[in-house]
This record gives sequence, structure tokens and C-alpha cells, in this order.
Amino acid sequence: MSGDERAIPAAVRMQQLLSGFEVSQALYVVAELGVATALLGGPRSVEELAAETGADSDALGRIIRFLAPLGVFRATDDGVEVTDLGRTLAEGPDDSVRGLARYWMETHYAPFGDLLHTARTGETAATKFLGKPFFDWVKESSHLAEVQNSAMADGGRSARGDLLDHYRLPEGNTIADIGGADGTLLAELLVKRPDSKGIVFDLPKVSAEAHETLAAAGLSDRTTVIGGDFFDAVPTADVYVMSAVLHDWSDSEAARILRSIADAAAPGARLVLVEMVMPEGDGPHVTKMVDLIMLAMVGGRERTETEWRSLLEEGGFTLDRIVSGSTGVMSAIEATLS
Ligand SMILES: C[S@@+](CC[C@H](N)C(=O)[O-])C[C@H]1O[C@@H](n2cnc3c(N)ncnc32)[C@H](O)[C@@H]1O
Repeated sequence: MSGDERAIPAAVRMQQLLSGFEVSQALYVVAELGVATALLGGPRSVEELAAETGADSDALGRIIRFLAPLGVFRATDDGVEVTDLGRTLAEGPDDSVRGLARYWMETHYAPFGDLLHTARTGETAATKFLGKPFFDWVKESSHLAEVQNSAMADGGRSARGDLLDHYRLPEGNTIADIGGADGTLLAELLVKRPDSKGIVFDLPKVSAEAHETLAAAGLSDRTTVIGGDFFDAVPTADVYVMSAVLHDWSDSEAARILRSIADAAAPGARLVLVEMVMPEGDGPHVTKMVDLIMLAMVGGRERTETEWRSLLEEGGFTLDRIVSGSTGVMSAIEATLS
């Protein structure tokens, strides 16, 4: 037991853990109102900040006071300044997770209130709360699709870390990113592959945003955006990329998605899953946090290397190798269609 743990009684530590709901919502306020963004230019008084972000200054001051001891803000002679930690809630910095804050609080927070239901029944909390599967709910709204895409772009970048800096995709003329959202990942991959063509495939409302991303990257002339359902059919390609998709689904559903690819591709086609690999054992690892989200929100799961291998086999693929970055939590899991 550390000195700190001895100093704080267990019941107080437990209260701190239980107050996680306050932390999540207070951080969301900072992200959504643009408080962290407003502080990028330097310290401000709470009154100035409130006026700039359309907030009540007493309420905002108390939210900032609550978050300061958690390392998000710091008091200065000129008012309040944002720390490196708090800056990640601002719009603009490379390591921003503002989109993730908005996504989790606007779409995950309320359904997580039904986690007890999941624990009792094994059923997905979000399906009970929303009255329909999570992605069916998201696909009905362009706003939610935008919030989800922005979170995936943020979260994906930080989770991948330097993985793609060192990684070379397998050879192939056409690269299809299945569940490719707004095309952020495909754009990053295609810039390094000037001779390849690319396809972004996702649900229609979600993939619609990819036109803009690909145009901004100067890739419109060698990319296609296709809206569809990967349980029905996917386009033909030489190399398939699927990033943070299969972890959203149960083993039987994930195997169906893999079989859709197997139906569209020729034997020998390559598949690269950009996913986390759950380590064996009880140590701390981000996959354990994400796994609970998968459990409660979509009925998916994080998988160990052994579980990835057998899922791929069930879908008709052979796992070739797993490449990990030095800083990110995601790996490239390469496989070949048998
Ligand atoms: C967790 S996000 C990952 C997005 C992106 N690949 C990334 O790494 O940032 C899962 C993606 O799967 C898409 N998706 C869900 N159900 C789908 C379906 N039935 N057909 C096609 N795409 C689907 C979602 O719209 C979403 O963009």
C-alpha cells in the first residue's frame, strides 16, 4: 500500500471513484462550450471566459474549481490557464480528444446507466436504453454521424500513435477501408501510396462525409466513396483495411463481416485489422476500459491474440503477423484470405 492510499480512508477513495459521473460531465462542459479552446491564447478571468463561451460565470467558475485539482486548469495571477492535460479538450491541438468527449457524453453516457441490465442479462445496455441497436440509432441522424466521425478521427489518431509512421500496407492496387467513416485513415494511408486507388465504405450517412476529407487531402481523383451495409456486401479490393470495426461486434457478427469480405475478394487478398490486442493477465491496459464500452454499447468485445486468430479463421482468413507501434495502443493485424 502506498503512502497516499494510507492517508485517504477507503470510503473516501471509493467516493472519489463514484464521482466519476461528475468528472465526465464537467470535462464535457469544458469541451462542448469551448472553454479549453478559449484558453489556448493564454489565461483569462472566469468572467471573461464565461462571456466568451456563453456560460454562467458562477457555474463555470465552480466547474473549473472542481477540475483544477484533477490537473485540467491552473490558477494564475491573470485568472485561469489550461494545462497540457486540459488542452486535449480544445479544438485544434494534434492530440485533441474534444470530439471523443462530445461523442461519449452525447451518445454513451446515458445508456451506460443501464450497465446493471447488461450485468444481469448479458444484453447490450444501449439497445435497451435506445430501443434499438446503437449503430441503427446513429445512422438515423447526420448530427450523430458527424459527432461519431469526429470522435473516431480523434480517438483513432491517439490510439494508433506512431503505428502508421513505420507500417507499410501489403501491396495491392485497390485498398478498401471497410467501416472507413469519414475517410481520415484511408487518406493517411493513400498519401503514402501514390499508385494505389482507394475506397471508403461505410453506412451511407457516415461515409457521406468522406468526400470532403478525401478532397481536402487531394485524393478525390483516385478514391471512391460507397455507402452500404457490410452485412450485405462490400466492394472488391486487393487490400482490405478495417480499423476499430470488428471489436464492435460479437464473434458471430464479426465472422459474418469477414465472410462478406471473403465473398467479394479473390483468394490471396490481404486484410489489415487495426485493432487492440488484449494482453493476457490482470495488469492495467486500455483494452479493459474499451472492452466495457463494447459490452455496454454494442455487444462487441476486445480480443486476445488467440481470439483474433480463431475469429479470422472462422471468417476464412489466416493471421500472418501482428505489428505494434511504440506509443499507440493499436496494432496492425495482417491476414490473408485462404
Ligand atoms: C468504431 S467506428 C470506426 C471508424 C473508423 N474505421 C476508425 O477507425 O476511426 C465503426 C464504424 O463502423 C461503421 N458501421 C457500423 N455498422 C456498419 C454496417 N452495417 N455497415 C457498414 N459500416 C458500418 C460505423 O458507421 C463506424 O464508422
